[in-house]
Amino acid sequence: MGKGKILVTGGTGYIGSHTVVELFNAGYEPIIIDNLSNSSISVLDGIKAITKVPVTYENIDCKDYNSLERFFEKHQDMKAIAHFAAYKSVGESVSKPISYYRNNIVSLLNLLQLMPNFGIKNIVFSSSCTVYGQPDELPVTEQSPIKPATSPYGSTKQMCETILNDAAIANPEMNSIILRYFNPIGAHSSAEIGELPNGIPNNLLPYITQTAAGIREKLRVFGDDYNTPDGSCIRDYINVVDLAKAHVVAIDRLIEEKNKKNIEVFNLGTGNGSSVLEILNGFESATGVKVPYEIVERRAGDIEKVWADTTFANQELGWKAEIPLEESLLSAWNWQKKLQ
Ligand code: UD1
Repeated sequence: MGKGKILVTGGTGYIGSHTVVELFNAGYEPIIIDNLSNSSISVLDGIKAITKVPVTYENIDCKDYNSLERFFEKHQDMKAIAHFAAYKSVGESVSKPISYYRNNIVSLLNLLQLMPNFGIKNIVFSSSCTVYGQPDELPVTEQSPIKPATSPYGSTKQMCETILNDAAIANPEMNSIILRYFNPIGAHSSAEIGELPNGIPNNLLPYITQTAAGIREKLRVFGDDYNTPDGSCIRDYINVVDLAKAHVVAIDRLIEEKNKKNIEVFNLGTGNGSSVLEILNGFESATGVKVPYEIVERRAGDIEKVWADTTFANQELGWKAEIPLEESLLSAWNWQKKLQ
């Protein structure tokens, strides 16, 4: 007897697809909806190569209330929703704010409006450490102040958190967990699924792997004059499989009603910061592949340093990031090689 159906919106995306696999491994029946706006249908083959059984999938845009409603009518007995479907590029959000607000906000509103009609109480929401801006104190705890967002993307994450909070106050039946991700990297150890950036990558790891593969000429390191030991920015890079497993624990917690409040927030990171140059050197030593690079100007809007205090997630969820950084870097490279 399985543990029940879980709706995974954005389930063919990077974090969504890894979570689908971990939900399956944990005995759940994940059901994917995705409009493939930033992912490929071939991800379903990758998932199946790991799980050995086909996963249920429907092409649905979460902005489309009527399609969502029809979908809920068909799948009456879902236990929880893991809501990943959203746009995620900081730079693009500056040039396309309306589509970011519409996509990220309307999708959540549609789900929240439909959930009570179909007796679904539980939702896990993908937020980001971006809500903390440049924190005054490190590491950041869940109580660290929320800073004014520096991009429409960041604004959508903050607004969605506010919406979930207000919904939780208005409806005590509702159970939400907000997960604030630090920087997800790496790929499944099978190299059957991984990150599939559209066009020129913005994020560090895909840019490194594409440069290592000769697709990009060189990595541009954005600034070496920050107030950090080697001058480059510091982030908390967390393996995507560790991140995916945290979603399973969060969903267990909601379904088993172990949550202490009807809305909870957890930081998902490793608790360790790494600089851009450390990641670059780590990649070279983990893979034996040289990555040409140059130091260039700072990137507008970048935060100098941020890493997570993971005490709350460790203690309350009983979850901890386990995969070493070298393994994450190697898995990212193995995935890149498979894409050639
Ligand atoms: C940011 C947000 C994160 C969001 C993500 C979505 C913060 C702190 N983080 O991540 O919440 O989910 O965008 O995309 O706001 N770098 C280079 N060269 C490159 C690419 C990146 O040097 O070609 C450096 C950046 O300057 C940064 C680090 O690598 O220091 C990581 O950058 P990136 O992978 O883009 O993620 P964030 O900007 O940290």
